[in-house]
Amino acid sequence: MQMERLKGRRAIITGAGTGIGRASALRFASEGAQVLVVGRREEKVAETVAMVRQAGGSAVAFAADASVEANVEAMIARCIAEFGGLEVFFANAATAFGGALFKQTAEQWQETYRVNVTAAFLAAKHAGLHMRNHGGGSIIITSSVASLRGNGGDAAYSASKAAVNSLAQTAACELAGTNVRVNAILPGLIETDGMKDLFDAARERGASDKLGRLNPLRRVGQPEEIAAMAAFLASDDGSYVNGQAIAVDGGVSSSHPGKF
Ligand SMILES: NC(=O)c1ccc[n+]([C@@H]2O[C@H](COP(=O)([O-])OP(=O)(O)OC[C@H]3O[C@@H](n4cnc5c(N)ncnc54)[C@H](O)[C@@H]3O)[C@@H](O)[C@H]2O)c1
Repeated sequence: MQMERLKGRRAIITGAGTGIGRASALRFASEGAQVLVVGRREEKVAETVAMVRQAGGSAVAFAADASVEANVEAMIARCIAEFGGLEVFFANAATAFGGALFKQTAEQWQETYRVNVTAAFLAAKHAGLHMRNHGGGSIIITSSVASLRGNGGDAAYSASKAAVNSLAQTAACELAGTNVRVNAILPGLIETDGMKDLFDAARERGASDKLGRLNPLRRVGQPEEIAAMAAFLASDDGSYVNGQAIAVDGGVSSSHPGKF
């Protein structure tokens, strides 16, 4: 990667031990950012850091649950201590239990909200507080096309992702006049560890080619394609994009099912 759009930027990425978060850590670092790689699983976070360093980038590991307020404060403090500041917070970690509405428990619903919504809220609150006092920044939240309509995820997951779309809008307004932008990315079906069961099941049925067929690009997405949007929003190329929920989904949310 030749671009240096993120040179001098300090970034925190949560859920960066795998999938979209890992791809984003690699992309951000390749564009010159220093990255605090956050995730719950220490070994996965260490793997991402090793990959970034191997590619010549700068990254530091921080193993923590991103939905605990003290941890969010601590990761911001660590980013500032390691790198000298914080300009980008990519709140990407999420969880899902799956399952039918009538089988979902209140505990699963609450846990989904704790990880998917509370973590994004804490990122917006604490990163927003820091950034508004230090000249601005970019807060990015991973939502999902499941936030737009049904049949894209379980009820708790889909509702939690709709909640973070609203959070991006309200936080952008609350941070008006501070040069802090807040946006949500809505991935479509992306081939990551988080979707392994779905992809494995399709392979076993010999139906891999059916995945992604309902979108006009007729394929699933790769984590690097979401990382590219995150890097755009983190950089000055996205300087006038604020309060938006941006689908990166091959067009599935723009189309009715039918023949292409
Ligand atoms: N893959 C898809 O098709 C898809 C589609 C739409 C949205 N998304 C969203 O993309 C984001 C990344 O998912 P992914 O597909 O890369 O899956 P993934 O499972 O590979 O990545 C999620 C990461 O978040 C970490 N994590 C979970 N809870 C955490 C917590 N409380 N604190 C810190 N880390 C935590 C997990 O350990 C994991 O490494 C999620 O927000 C997900 O909802 C994914």
